[in-house]
Amino acid sequence: MNLHGQNCAPCKSQLAVSCSCHRNVSSLLLQSSRIRSETFKSLESFEARRDDVILAGYPKSGTNWLSQILTDLIAISQKKTPGSESSVNAEEQEAYLEVGDAGKYERMTKLPSPRLMVTHLRPENLPKSIFQSNAKILLLIRNPKDVATSYFHFSNGLAFLPSYETWDDFFTDFMTKKMAWGCYLEYLSEWNKYADKENIMTITYEEVKENPALSVKNIATFFGIPLTEEQLQLVVERSSFQSMKKNSDKTHGSFGNIIFRKGGVSDWKNLFTEDQNEKMDKAFEEHIAGTKLGKKLKYDLYCKA
Ligand code: A3P
Repeated sequence: MNLHGQNCAPCKSQLAVSCSCHRNVSSLLLQSSRIRSETFKSLESFEARRDDVILAGYPKSGTNWLSQILTDLIAISQKKTPGSESSVNAEEQEAYLEVGDAGKYERMTKLPSPRLMVTHLRPENLPKSIFQSNAKILLLIRNPKDVATSYFHFSNGLAFLPSYETWDDFFTDFMTKKMAWGCYLEYLSEWNKYADKENIMTITYEEVKENPALSVKNIATFFGIPLTEEQLQLVVERSSFQSMKKNSDKTHGSFGNIIFRKGGVSDWKNLFTEDQNEKMDKAFEEHIAGTKLGKKLKYDLYCKA
């Protein structure tokens, strides 16, 4: 599989392969799962289905949150009560497309439809069948400053991740493309090439936060899942930050407290210096502002103010 452009900057080895010099890719995800090179090799053989439900989002953009919403919506589409049965894919980590062992894709062929898949990958690194199948993709984006802030705390919160002594060090790495999942602005720019496709719906962390009921309704409509008012309220309630944090012991074990940190907007203001703020604004203006995703992010409203 082509992973060019996502090499580990310091050691030049491919990002997909955990390398000792690089921040371990797997640590961005859940539990102690490892992204293995053989998994990446077999990812290309993954056969997407037209009715797969795919969530794409850069780490720390709220993927666990949206994944919970989608899990409940899928349960409703299967006439189940959200939360009453095990989640769509047997284990949470199975939902992360690029995480697991080499036998994972074979196991996935046996899962009933609709399958939920979550991915942090850029579109050019996804298996071709995802686009060929026309499966629907929910693309989740977030204010890059809050992504960086969340990522910094996450990195420092996990023992098996190298921690950053200072926020300044982290910021430099974030802006110079040294994150395990590549540069967020490049991620946005690559996904922007797909933003006009009708099987892709883009949603921002900020809009879900501002109006969760409307967002859940729009997501359900996009995936063709009818909802009663009562079901809508249930999904909204179960996916609130408070509910998810409270439940996180059960759903995410000891990682819960690290993943469900603040769950708000603009926490970047507690970390960014004026100079860093200007640097991010400049990079955003240069690379993303004029694009569809850039406009969708409402940068002036959420990211500068
Ligand atoms: P913060 O670190 O800013 O609090 P991911 O799931 O992609 O790793 O993203 C994690 C971020 O999403 C964290 O942001 C986390 O608090 C936030 N988040 C998780 N669940 C949420 C929810 N139900 N509502 C709002 N934010 C949530």
